[in-house]
Amino acid sequence: MLYRKFGREDFIVSSLGFGCMRFPVINNNDELIDEEKAIKMLRYAIDNGVNYVDTAYPYHNGQSEVFVGKALKDGYREKVNLATKSPVWLIKSYEDFYKYLNNQLQKLQTNYIDMYLLHALNKESWEQIIKLDVLKFLDEAKEKGLIKYPGFSFHGDIDTFKEIVDSYDWSFCQIQYNILDIDYQAGLEGLKYAASKGLAVIIMEPLKGGKLAITPPEKIQSLWDKSEIKRSPVHSALKWLWNQPEVTLILSGMSSIEQVMDNIKYADDSQIHSLTDEELKIVDEVHHTYNNLIKINCTTCGYCMPCPQGVDIPLNFSIYNDRYIYNDLKNSLKKYKDLHESKKASSCIECGKCQTLCPQNLPIIDALKKLHEELA
Ligand SMILES: NC(=O)c1ccc[n+]([C@@H]2O[C@H](COP(=O)([O-])OP(=O)(O)OC[C@H]3O[C@@H](n4cnc5c(N)ncnc54)[C@H](OP(=O)(O)O)[C@@H]3O)[C@@H](O)[C@H]2O)c1
Ligand code: SF4
Ligand code: SF4
Repeated sequence: MLYRKFGREDFIVSSLGFGCMRFPVINNNDELIDEEKAIKMLRYAIDNGVNYVDTAYPYHNGQSEVFVGKALKDGYREKVNLATKSPVWLIKSYEDFYKYLNNQLQKLQTNYIDMYLLHALNKESWEQIIKLDVLKFLDEAKEKGLIKYPGFSFHGDIDTFKEIVDSYDWSFCQIQYNILDIDYQAGLEGLKYAASKGLAVIIMEPLKGGKLAITPPEKIQSLWDKSEIKRSPVHSALKWLWNQPEVTLILSGMSSIEQVMDNIKYADDSQIHSLTDEELKIVDEVHHTYNNLIKINCTTCGYCMPCPQGVDIPLNFSIYNDRYIYNDLKNSLKKYKDLHESKKASSCIECGKCQTLCPQNLPIIDALKKLHEELA
């Protein structure tokens, strides 16, 4: 494992962090984490040098924090920097900041959180929590020793990102950044901006929620094949991120022990400035080619779920995107037909709940209608 300095702070973190949002589950139920498998995965990662663990209030329908609390027993808590996030969309008063923080400390079975983030900020949520005195809360919680390093994760526009960076003495921020999302949300510009101000920058969704891990379509594979050094698509995507000096750490949401082992192996090869100009040119071509193929920018994060009607929103979008990425209408038509009626896009009653929760600000209702027209 290689390590990098945490922004202006005086300690180092592993170049790979464990994202606790995609643990293996039982019976396809996101709340039912397969604890036996997941404990092995998390502890294997820590035993092999990972010292950063990222969870959040809503992950696995509230169960990720509870599980992480259990998994970090037996001396593992002391070996890691533990990150979790304030669910800002639930905060209606100043007291609520403490209500959720205290609940999280309890779930995580710890007296303090190392990295405490304001979760998934955008223009609207930032304006709302500023009115509720969030910065006073962060100072106070730090002073009381309940949190060590304040930060924020971000899913909004670049101007709001810069405004937030400049509004407080943050230790770090967390942005969505990958080969596809170079000019999206904070993107490359935000990465460089935050790093220039001394913030550590944590990368989330490095594989676009797994899209960059699936067997690439022919058009993409032929680009990767041009590279002299052969790497898997996952290795290539992670290595491109690690190549950049402004990146502090990559969070990977891993769902099997094999993925944990692979990514730890890749992290041994996470040096800065180690890609050639030729390799960087290939990444640029992959970026443009993929962006032309993907129709709906869903990262399958699941923040919009559960839908009260039972619509499986990320699955519908994934089937729709596959139709374009692989140019395989027949397969997508079959997959859509085989979906249980309640899970299909057509079960949407347009209540709008999902749209307010989507960090990508996707027009979910319209997109579901369009995909149903095409695939039904
Ligand atoms: N703060 C926020 O707003 C926010 C938002 C999103 C994420 N996050 C955090 O950032 C973390 C990372 O984001 P993410 O989970 O979306 O990460 P990601 O790395 O983009 O996607 C994770 C998925 O990639 C696939 N994968 C990972 N390693 C692989 C390997 N070696 N081989 C094949 N497939 C592999 C797995 O897909 P399959 O499971 O399909 O195999 C896995 O579920 C999250 O876990 C979470 O902690 C934060
Ligand atoms: S708008 Fe449709 S898909 Fe979204 S939560 Fe409501 S019923 Fe479900
Ligand atoms: S629609 Fe939005 S919230 Fe739902 S899984 Fe996709 S990106 Fe996440």
